[in-house]
Parts: sequence; structure tokens; C-alpha cells
Amino acid sequence: MRILLFGPRGYIGGHLLRKFPDAVSSTADIADASAVIAALESNVPDVVINAVGKTGTPNVDWCEDHKEETFRSNVLGPLILAEECRKRGIYMVHISSGCIYSGDNGGKGFSEEDVPNFQGSYYSRTKQWTEAMLREFSDPVQGRGGILMLRIRMPFEPEDHPKNLLSKVAKFTKVIDVPNSITYVPDCVDAAAELIARRSTGIFNMVNPGPVSLYEVACMLAEAQGRPHPELLTQTLAESMTKAARSNCILSTEKLLREGIVLPSAMERIREIVAATSPKGSACRTEITKSIVYMTVSFLWKED
Ligand SMILES: NC(=O)c1ccc[n+]([C@@H]2O[C@H](COP(=O)([O-])OP(=O)(O)OC[C@H]3O[C@@H](n4cnc5c(N)ncnc54)[C@H](OP(=O)(O)O)[C@@H]3O)[C@@H](O)[C@H]2O)c1
Repeated sequence: MRILLFGPRGYIGGHLLRKFPDAVSSTADIADASAVIAALESNVPDVVINAVGKTGTPNVDWCEDHKEETFRSNVLGPLILAEECRKRGIYMVHISSGCIYSGDNGGKGFSEEDVPNFQGSYYSRTKQWTEAMLREFSDPVQGRGGILMLRIRMPFEPEDHPKNLLSKVAKFTKVIDVPNSITYVPDCVDAAAELIARRSTGIFNMVNPGPVSLYEVACMLAEAQGRPHPELLTQTLAESMTKAARSNCILSTEKLLREGIVLPSAMERIREIVAATSPKGSACRTEITKSIVYMTVSFLWKED
């Protein structure tokens, strides 16, 4: 399998590169068709992974003020990649987002077939536009190619990183208590590798089962380090503090289960990390633990 990975320097791209160390990386501008064609023609991949995107720095509010850049990376670029991969019969994997819904869909969670119902941020709109367009072309043509779209949400992992949900939570003194589906990145890349090996196509919700309350997670982290609990932030107050609205939602993991891919629950993964952060777990303490101990707490309102 010859993989060409776009976006290798990014957070998710870096994880994918560690999962697929033999992948060839490209930092070509995916919104530049000639650069994409050159990368495809010189590397002749049979799998293209698109981990490119603008998620905004420090958060998705940035996208509200940088619509052209966001559009180029989140919409135009993936369309160019999809077009060029389709012409060549190359299988494409696109990193999508679950932040296109709001709520829990009457307790069922949102499936891959549910129409997005969250329009509150430009970032979220670009992600759902692209998904809607790519899904029309996700089937292989004459047995070749096809598109797999992986929806991740609020990624977390043991290692400290500005994009790790737990690293963010560790900095906040005020947290909302709303259930959300979240993605344990190591499980996600393992499941992605399995889907890629099978050449699965279409959309998959790549979240761990069982929504979690970010407030509960923040309290668990605080207790593990002997810090006071954060304050509870109401959703109304949180909404008044950001330029773009934030999606809070629960995604169904039924489709992954039907594929026989069983992920541990999100809470199970968090407990493992929290256990490693407690003083008793110091032997297996990870970098995130160190940051949780020393970080100055401030304020939480999730980003993606
Ligand atoms: N992190 C999350 O919370 C999250 C959650 C759900 C979904 N996702 C999705 O996951 C994907 C990757 O996100 P990430 O968190 O890994 O973001 P990231 O850390 O910012 O990485 C994105 C990478 O894409 C590169 N890039 C941006 N525009 C480009 C373009 N036009 N051509 C080529 N490269 C370009 C960036 O390079 P520069 O830095 O030089 O611009 C960066 O290296 C995105 O599609 C995002 O929507 C992320």
C-alpha cells in the first residue's frame, strides 16, 4: 500500500504519520490543482489521506475572520484532491468533523446518515459542505478508488498538545456540563487503519462510545492533582463569550460496531489517563500530567 499523506505537520496528520511510517508526506497546497497533480504524479499512491484543514488558532473563531483561507483548505482543497484521485482511481481518506450537529438526536445520537443540524460556525459549515459534496462520489468507480470520511470530535490522548482536549481542559477554571462525543486519537488511528485496509468508503463517526461531560472530566483531572474543581459555566454564558457558536453533540457509534470495530468507551480511556496523572500513578506519568500539574487554570469553552 503506497500512502500519500497531505497535512503531515498537523496534529492529526502527525498521528497518522506515526501509524503509517512508510507513508510519503506532501506539504503541497491542496487548493493548488497543479501542486496536487504534481504530488500525485510523482508519488503514484494507491491511497491518499487528507489531514489538511484550517481549524483556527487559537480556536475556530479565527475561521469567522479568515473565511477565504478556511474555504481554500477545508472545501476547495478537498474537492481538488477528490477530483484528481477519482480521475486516477486512487482511494481517498478525508478527515471530517463531528462538529456539524447539535444535541443528542432524541437520545439516539446522530448517525452518519443524519443531516447536519448545526450551522453556528463557519468552520462547521465548511466541514459539512465538503462532506455533503464528497459523499456523492464516495463509491468506487469500476472497483477503483472511492472516498472514506472519518468524523472526529474533540480529540484527546495521553500526550500534552495544544489540540488535545485534556490539555485544554487542564487550563480551564470554568467548564460547561454538556455531554459530548469525543475521540481517543490512538483508537481512532487504529480503527482508521482497519477501515483503510478494507478499503471502506463513506462516512464513519470516529468517536469512542459513551458521551462525556467536559465538566466531569475537568473535575476528574482536578481531583487527580489535588486542585479545586473548576466552576460550572452555563451554556448561555459560554455562548456569549465566543464569536462563533460551538457544537455540542452526541454521535452514534453503531456503524463502526456493525463493521466489527469495537472501541473502549471514552470514559474508560479518560480514566486510564487520569489514573496515570494521579500521584499514585506517577510511575507511568505522561507529559500531559506534568502540564496538568504546572499549568495555570483559566477558562474552558471547547473548540472542536
Ligand atoms: N483538531 C481537532 O479538534 C479536530 C476535530 C475534528 C476534526 N478535525 C479535522 O482534522 C483535520 C486536521 O486537523 P488538525 O487538528 O490536525 O489541524 P492542524 O494541526 O492545524 O493541521 C492541519 C495542517 O494542514 C495544513 N494546511 C492548512 N491548509 C493547507 C493547504 N491549503 N494545503 C496544504 N496544507 C494545509 C496546515 O499547515 P499550516 O499550519 O502551515 O497552515 C497544518 O499542517 C482537519 O480537517 C480538521 O477539520 C480536527
